[in-house]
Amino acid sequence: MSNTVFSAVQPSGVPTIANYVGAIKNWVNLQNEYDCIFSIADLHTLTVKQVPAELRARTLELLALYIACGVDPEKCVLFVQSHVHEHAELTWILNTITAVGEMQRMTQFKDKSLKHAENINMGLMDYPVLMASDILLYNVQYVPVGADQKQHLEIARDLAMRFNARYSDTFIVPEPIIPKLGARVMSLQEPSSKMSKSDENVNAFISMLDSPDDIIRKFRRAVTDSDSVVRYDEQEKPGISNLMTIYSVFTGEDMDAIKARFEGKGYGEFKQQVGEAVAEGLKPIQDKRAELLADKTYLLSILKTGAEKASSIAFRTLRKVYKKVGLLQL
Ligand code: TYM
Repeated sequence: MSNTVFSAVQPSGVPTIANYVGAIKNWVNLQNEYDCIFSIADLHTLTVKQVPAELRARTLELLALYIACGVDPEKCVLFVQSHVHEHAELTWILNTITAVGEMQRMTQFKDKSLKHAENINMGLMDYPVLMASDILLYNVQYVPVGADQKQHLEIARDLAMRFNARYSDTFIVPEPIIPKLGARVMSLQEPSSKMSKSDENVNAFISMLDSPDDIIRKFRRAVTDSDSVVRYDEQEKPGISNLMTIYSVFTGEDMDAIKARFEGKGYGEFKQQVGEAVAEGLKPIQDKRAELLADKTYLLSILKTGAEKASSIAFRTLRKVYKKVGLLQL
């Protein structure tokens, strides 16, 4: 057992409320009890074509967002994945114990291969191994993520166990922490698929930077059923259930209370209230983020400290791994 928590978000596009609800918000609750390490997974982002200058800018913006959401740089190690070269190096070692077939079966690989048919690169397929390296380098016990990352966590666990079995006990086998509420926030336009920051339809997601007017407008337009009762039922009423989940996360009210509050009020009023609650919840985060971005020196200093702390752990793990697999040490 260890007391370490690790997670990361990719600096691809602007994060959505799904990234907040499924991941970042929960990190904040863990930082007082655990040794938390949170990364910005820029190497993962390269698996899809990027505009270099934009990727650089988004990396720093994501750090500002983490802090604006309440992740405390005094309590947590915050760093950029590419600043710690051991991530790429451990990936190489783990690649040698990963079967090609395992990677080809990953749901996200299959989805992304369809979406980026013109660019099915090795990195896209190797993505879960890099993610396993992120985690295994830091002797991590818990990984707080949304439900879509569960399969990748399984791979990280399998690789840890496989390596341990082959080369003797080395890695802690990590466990996911998936939130009870909001583990899978759905698209506002297509409640059968997950909300994604890369969705082509901007009405399908709420970005963390959307204005109050846009947020309210998008919720008003959210796809729901033709009934008019606000009631939680994922099968029969996926759209309304998704909105109830979002409302519940942002207000702290449980499903029964929400149902009672909107009894006889119809969808129009409900959607308006969801929009207002989310807009209100995001406002202080947006303000804080803007304030932080005005001081780039401060943000870079956090990343420098973070990289140093992360490197010192990663260095030790990788050295141990190199030794165990038989690489000659100087
Ligand atoms: P990414 O950037 O796609 O998403 C970041 C976090 O947001 C969660 N999430 C969601 N939660 C609820 N509902 C949704 N619709 C939704 N969409 C995304 C994700 O589960 C994730 O927690 N590969 C990872 C980043 C990563 C990582 C790691 C995570 C790299 N290395 C090591 C954990 C540990 C990713 O692309 O997340």
